[in-house]
Amino acid sequence: MTALKFEDQELPDLDNYATLAEQFVPGRRAIFAIVEASFLELLPKGPARILVVGAGGGEEILRLGPDNPGWSFVGVDTHRPMVDLALRRLDGTPAGSRSQVEETAVENLEQRDFDAATCILTAHFVPDDGAKLAFFKAIHARMKPGAPLAIFDGTGVPGEPETELLRRIWKRHAVRNGAAEEAAKANAEAFKKVAVVSSERQEDLLRSAGFERLTPIFRGLSVMGWLAFA
Ligand SMILES: C[S@@+](CC[C@H](N)C(=O)[O-])C[C@H]1O[C@@H](n2cnc3c(N)ncnc32)[C@H](O)[C@@H]1O
Repeated sequence: MTALKFEDQELPDLDNYATLAEQFVPGRRAIFAIVEASFLELLPKGPARILVVGAGGGEEILRLGPDNPGWSFVGVDTHRPMVDLALRRLDGTPAGSRSQVEETAVENLEQRDFDAATCILTAHFVPDDGAKLAFFKAIHARMKPGAPLAIFDGTGVPGEPETELLRRIWKRHAVRNGAAEEAAKANAEAFKKVAVVSSERQEDLLRSAGFERLTPIFRGLSVMGWLAFA
């Protein structure tokens, strides 16, 4: 089965992406608060360059930037409309002047030596046919040794009872959280085709890419988050 790309989903209105993400992703706000707290704990005071992989929409920069004037951001995303949405949302904001967001694959990014990185709800669109490992290696190669990556993805094994149960709850949660019934149904159908892997496989791939000290920091239904150190 071909893995579903982000842009293959039927998103009715991309400008509405931030609202939809809040409706669908359990604990969406908590994810950014946890990432910010993690980096505050782990990064020395002072300037830090943060790589944002899958920066489309701009949410990471808008959430992590304002209270941390020493942090600057380099965002990459492969889908032009999501890059444009990020640029529009960041324009004129305090964090906007400390950020760049480019339409490129992380594999093609020339900048290196990042102090930290995020990869939020993005790697699960990269198929586990060698591409996901290459993607993790490309992130690792651009970070300073020991730098923290905060990574969040859907997890699971399609067809397994626990995964399927969590998906049914996911759909009901979205509707309880304000999503339209039809949109929740379409999202649940689309997500059956996303390249999610089990949490064990995700950890194996991250370790194979060179990351160490994998530390789970979040779980909301099937979305899991880790810190991993380069
Ligand atoms: C669900 S959105 C998440 C965006 C953002 N991280 C957030 O949480 O709001 C997934 C993003 O990943 C991007 N994406 C998918 N595959 C990618 C890849 N291989 N490299 C970079 N970005 C990718 C998509 O274009 C999309 O903007």
